[in-house]
Amino acid sequence: MSLTILKGTIVSAPALGQLDITEGGYLAAEDGRILGVYPVLPEQYAAAPVEDWGDALILPAFADCHLHAPQYPMLGTGMDLQLLEWLQAYTFPTEARFADTDYARSVYRKLAAELIENGTTRVCMFSSLHTDATWVLMEELERAGVTGYVGKVNMDRNGAPGVLEETTEGSMAETLRWLEGCGDFAHIRPILTPRFTPSCTDELMAFLGRLAAERDLPVQSHLSENQSEMAWVRQLHPDCEQYWETYAKYGLWTDRTLMAHCVWSDRRERTAMRRSGVTMVHCADSNQNVCSGVAPVRRALDEGIKVVLGSDIAGGDRLSMFDVTASAIRASKARHLMDHWDTPFLTVPEAWYLATSAATAFFGEPAGFAPGASLHAIVLEDGQLPQPHPLTAQERLERCVYRRQPDAVREVWSAGRRVLSRGRSRA
Ligand code: GUN
Ligand code: FE
Repeated sequence: MSLTILKGTIVSAPALGQLDITEGGYLAAEDGRILGVYPVLPEQYAAAPVEDWGDALILPAFADCHLHAPQYPMLGTGMDLQLLEWLQAYTFPTEARFADTDYARSVYRKLAAELIENGTTRVCMFSSLHTDATWVLMEELERAGVTGYVGKVNMDRNGAPGVLEETTEGSMAETLRWLEGCGDFAHIRPILTPRFTPSCTDELMAFLGRLAAERDLPVQSHLSENQSEMAWVRQLHPDCEQYWETYAKYGLWTDRTLMAHCVWSDRRERTAMRRSGVTMVHCADSNQNVCSGVAPVRRALDEGIKVVLGSDIAGGDRLSMFDVTASAIRASKARHLMDHWDTPFLTVPEAWYLATSAATAFFGEPAGFAPGASLHAIVLEDGQLPQPHPLTAQERLERCVYRRQPDAVREVWSAGRRVLSRGRSRA
C-alpha cells in the first residue's frame, strides 16, 4: 500500500460551471487512486508523510481529446490555407516522413515530454497511417507517462499519391497487425481512426465499423469542420442527408465515438450526436487557423451533448491546454456576437471543466478529484506573478488560464505515478 498526500490550494471542476475549492487542503491517494480531498487531514493518515506545496494550486491534469502527433513538426507553420488545401500542401507531406521510425522516435519523444511539461496526462491522439511509427508513438507516450488512446490512421483514398497513401487491403491488414501489437501497453490503448469520410472508401468504413463492434473499440474522426469538406462528403455519399450519416451507416457512430470540430453541425446533426452519445471535440485554435468557422459549443452544451476540448495540433498552434481553454472562451465570445448575443460565452470554470473533468468519462473514470478516480494531478505555482490585490483561489485559477509564470507546472501525476518533478521554484 502506498499513500500520497498533497497539501495546497486544491481546485477541481466536478461539473459544468462548478468549482470545488479547498484552501490549505489535503488530497489523499492510495495506490494511485484518490481517497478524497479534506480540509483537515483525517486521523487515519496522521502518520503518513505529507507533501506540502504551500499555497500552490493543486489541479486535475488535462485531457487533450484531439491532436495529430505526426503534425507536431509543423506546429506553428502553414496557416495560410483552408482545410482541404492545407491537408494536401502541408499535412500529408509532413505525415509521410513517419515511414521512418527513427525520425518518429525523435519527434514523438519530444512531443510526449512537452505534453507532460504542460500538464496533459490523457490524450485521444491520431498517429499517421504507419503501423510501426504508431507503436513508436505509443511507446514514447507510455514512457513519458501520458495515458489514453492512440489511433493508426486509416486513409485508402484521396491521400497523396506516392507520398502518403494505402490500399484498402493494405489499410485493413495493417490495422489488424497494429492491433495485435497493442496488447503490451499498460496505459495506452488503441482507438479506430478513419481519418475522415473523404479519406476512406465504403469498404474500409464497413470493415472498421465491424471491427469496432467485434472488439469493443472506440472510434475517433472528424465531422463537419469546413464547408468544402462537407460539400465533398455530400458528393461522395449522395444517399446520406448529412455528414454524420456516413459514419452511422457503418457502425462508427456510438457512445464510444469522438468527433472533432462539428463547426457546422446543425440542430439535426447535433440531435443525432446527443441520441447516440457521440462526444464533440471542440478545437477552437484549429477552427480559427484554417478558417473553418466558430463551433456552436454553448448550444451543444445546452442540448445535453457531451463536449470536450482538443488542441488539434497542428491545425491548432498551441499544445498547452491552458491556452486551448482560453481559446475556447474566445471562440465562444465570437459565437456570442455572431448569435446576436443569444448564446452566453463560456466562463473560465466552464471551459476549464471541458478541458479536465468533462473528458474523464470517455476514459472510464469519475470526474475531478472524486474518490476512486485515478490520480491525474498537477501542482501549479503562480507566486512570481504580481497581484493587483490579494487574489482568491478562483481568480488565481482564472488568471492561470490566460497567464502563467515560466515553468508554472511543477509536478505532474499521471495514473498515480509522478511523471514530472521540478520541485518548488525559488521565489
Ligand atoms: N480532416 C482530415 N484530416 C484532418 C487533419 O489532419 N486536421 C484537421 N484539422 N482536419 C482534418
Ligand atoms: Fe484534426
